[in-house]
Amino acid sequence: MADFVRITDVAPRDGLQNEPAAIPTADKARLVQLLAACGLDEIEVSSFVSPRWVPQLGDAAELFAAIPAPPVGTIYSALVPNEKGLDAALEVNRASRQTRGEQMISKVSVFTAASETFSQRNTNATIAQTLERFAPVIGRAHAAGLRVRAYVSCVIACPFEGPISPAAVSRVVEGLLALGADEIDLGDTIGAADRQSLRTLLADAARLVNIADPQAFTLHLHDTQGNAGACALAAMEAGVRSFDASSGGLGGCPYASTPGRRAPGNISTQTLVRSIIDAGLTPRVDAKALQRAGEYAQGLVGG
Ligand code: HMG
Ligand code: MG
Repeated sequence: MADFVRITDVAPRDGLQNEPAAIPTADKARLVQLLAACGLDEIEVSSFVSPRWVPQLGDAAELFAAIPAPPVGTIYSALVPNEKGLDAALEVNRASRQTRGEQMISKVSVFTAASETFSQRNTNATIAQTLERFAPVIGRAHAAGLRVRAYVSCVIACPFEGPISPAAVSRVVEGLLALGADEIDLGDTIGAADRQSLRTLLADAARLVNIADPQAFTLHLHDTQGNAGACALAAMEAGVRSFDASSGGLGGCPYASTPGRRAPGNISTQTLVRSIIDAGLTPRVDAKALQRAGEYAQGLVGG
């Protein structure tokens, strides 16, 4: 089993998507550049979603135009909910090939949920309808040479439906694999996992996907209860070798926030790195560069 752990920093996307105040594209570009100096495997730069649903990320195309191509060893990715989103991502690549001879986006990420209510609230579609939308997205992304990550949200609990069973998660994972998704990413959207619930979930998922293959499986933890570091450790013990994290811990989930108190966000990249070291594994990141990026990220949201 690999002794290194793959890290995707999602701060520019998950970290910023719910920020109410408009953040200038130039500041986001600075954040991506600071992250690109960290040696991270992947940076989730933005989302090509409806600007009415997520106004903060309405500048995705402008952001890609404002940043250099990723350094060797790092890739850029972006969320796409449907073909319209994929078209926008492909247009970014077409433009960048023309202007600088390089492709910016190597992976697109589709997203659905293990909870019907969350799927409706997040994408205005049933789980089955999201899968129908993904079929042409995945086919066309592959034809364009892009890898496809498929997120499943609410894998432990849903803010509207409560606890979610591993069986419900597996049904969605099966559907996504049947469509040809290259990578499954399980999201603990509201940070409800503890070590035991996570172990149970991973044991179930391992029947469908190689959870130890960092190209095939990723875990996406939110740190709402402050135990995402312990959960990451438990997941590494179970064999997981790829995680999402957010520099500076940005990304408080609106569904987990209460009036006057924003919920803690994604597991911070710094916390994840500590868990990786505690697990006796190797984080391939530059700690000083990561600290700079984390401080800058927190400054962007006034944190
Ligand atoms: P809809 O309103 O049902 O879409 O939204 P529609 O197809 O009926 O179109 C309505 C309008 O949206 C049209 O514009 C479309 O052109 C436009 P109009 O004609 O009215 O001017 N539109 C788009 N515009 C830009 N880009 C697009 C796009 N698609 C349609 N791609 C839709 C459906 C999926 C678009 C919407 O619900 C949406 O954008 N949702 C995004 C929600 C989102 O980004 N959530 C956060 C990401 S998921 C997450 O955070 C969880 C994760 O972190 C893991 C975890 O923690 O669990 C990944
Ligand atoms: Mg998330």
